[in-house]
Order: sequence, then C-alpha cells, then structure tokens
Amino acid sequence: RKTVTGNTLAALYKKQEKITMLTCYDASFASLMDLCGVEILLIGDSLGMVCQGKDSTLPVSIEEVAYHTECVANGNKTAMIVADMPFGTYPTPEAAYENAAELIKAGAHMVKIEGGRWLEDTIRFLTERAIPVCGHLGLTPQSVHQFGGYRVQGKTEEDAERIIEDAKILQDAGASIFVLEAIPSQLGKRVTEAISVPTIGIGAGPDCSGQVLVMHDMLNVYPGKKARFVRNFMEGQTTIEGAIKAYVAAVKDGTFPAEEHCF
Ligand code: KIV
Ligand code: NA
Repeated sequence: RKTVTGNTLAALYKKQEKITMLTCYDASFASLMDLCGVEILLIGDSLGMVCQGKDSTLPVSIEEVAYHTECVANGNKTAMIVADMPFGTYPTPEAAYENAAELIKAGAHMVKIEGGRWLEDTIRFLTERAIPVCGHLGLTPQSVHQFGGYRVQGKTEEDAERIIEDAKILQDAGASIFVLEAIPSQLGKRVTEAISVPTIGIGAGPDCSGQVLVMHDMLNVYPGKKARFVRNFMEGQTTIEGAIKAYVAAVKDGTFPAEEHCF
C-alpha cells in the first residue's frame, strides 16, 4: 500500500471508511501491523504499564517514548506513526515544542497530547511549526489523580458539552485528529458530528471515525479482567497476524465495537 499520510486519513474520513489504530512499541510488531493494514501505529505512554510494568502512565519520560518510537519507525514501512507526549512534557508551548521535536526526530509523524482547551495555545504553537497534533479527550489517563481513578468521563450534560467545546477549540487550534477515550457512545457521536476531522475511539462508541486498542489488550497477553471496551481478537485465531487482521476487518466493517464494548 501507499504511505499513510494526513491526506490518506482525510480521504478515509471523507468516504466514511473507518480508520484503524493500534498501539505499538517495537520493530517486530510495527512491521506486522503495517503488513496487516493498520493505518496508524501509536507509541502510547501506556508503554509504562505494558512494557515497563508501572502502575500508571505518569512516570514515562520523553526519552523512553522516543526510544520506542525509533524502534517502531525501524520496523514500519507505510503506516502513520503517532507518539504520545508524556506527562509533564508540555507545561508551556515552548517546552512542548522541544519535546515534540524529539519524537519527530525519532520517527513520529504526529504527536498526541492529552487535555482540553488549556492546550489551545500549545496545539497552535506546534502546528504552526509543522508538528501535526492528535488531541486526546475524555478519560485522559495522565489526569488519573485529578479524576480520582480511571472513570468514564462526560456522563453529565455539562461535562459532555465541555468536551464537545474542547474538541471544537482544539480543532480550530490545528489538531488534525482526536482520540476519544471512555465516554458514552452518544457523546462519541456528538463530538464526531461537531468537528470536521477524524475521531478515533477507545470506549467511545461505534460512531467515531476509527478505533484504537492497546495491542497487549486485544492480543489477550495478560489473563484476567479487561476494560469494558477491550475485545480479545486472539479468540478464534491461531496467529498474531490473524488477530491483527481480524481487528482491522472488524473495525472496517463496523462489527467492533459492539454494544458490550460501549458506555
Ligand atoms: O497510551 C495509550 O496507549 C493511549 C491509547 C489507549 C489511546 O493513549
Ligand atoms: Na496514552
């Protein structure tokens, strides 16, 4: 396939074809996911949990995300690479730019940054300086202490309206896509309809422009209870390649997420 760029995503969005994203942390999985047709590889700060065994994303550093980004870039051929800005790396627009530039130099095509309208100036500063930005709204895990746990966000009408307004403000500031995490399906739909760039949902319902999961979750690497929005794509498969292809197919044909994965 041709290299996936911002233009590719815009074209998929326009023809309402669902966009597929998975987290990825190394070269081997990057080459396999690329081969399976995943459009976006996300070096999530979830690497703190799934690679480092920490109990939140908060301790992850910019150097660590840059290292994994370089590993992914080495294995990837055509997918778009998005890297997370870790907690504490975007206190000001200038600091955000310096840190984001490290991720771009490591091979990312876009950076993802968690939060609402307080990021307006930062997102404008980055995008004016040629660093594409993915927003992240709803359950933003770097805010776990402020939320008092990993809780579904946007359940009241007031919170829902704030999230919709955040998306509009950050789109106007230059964000080119958004991850929406753990919000009611109805709100995922409302945000998606309120803006004119793609939304990538994780526990945000079937009406988002695409979907994302943490690879270790969808490959069922850890036994035990998962978040509601996770589906085990190894079920019925004998290879990891089969599971990743099943994920791509299920997102594309709209069978994932189903009602049981939504809030
Ligand atoms: O860090 C991560 O894996 C993420 C996804 C869950 C969207 O931000
Ligand atoms: Na993240």
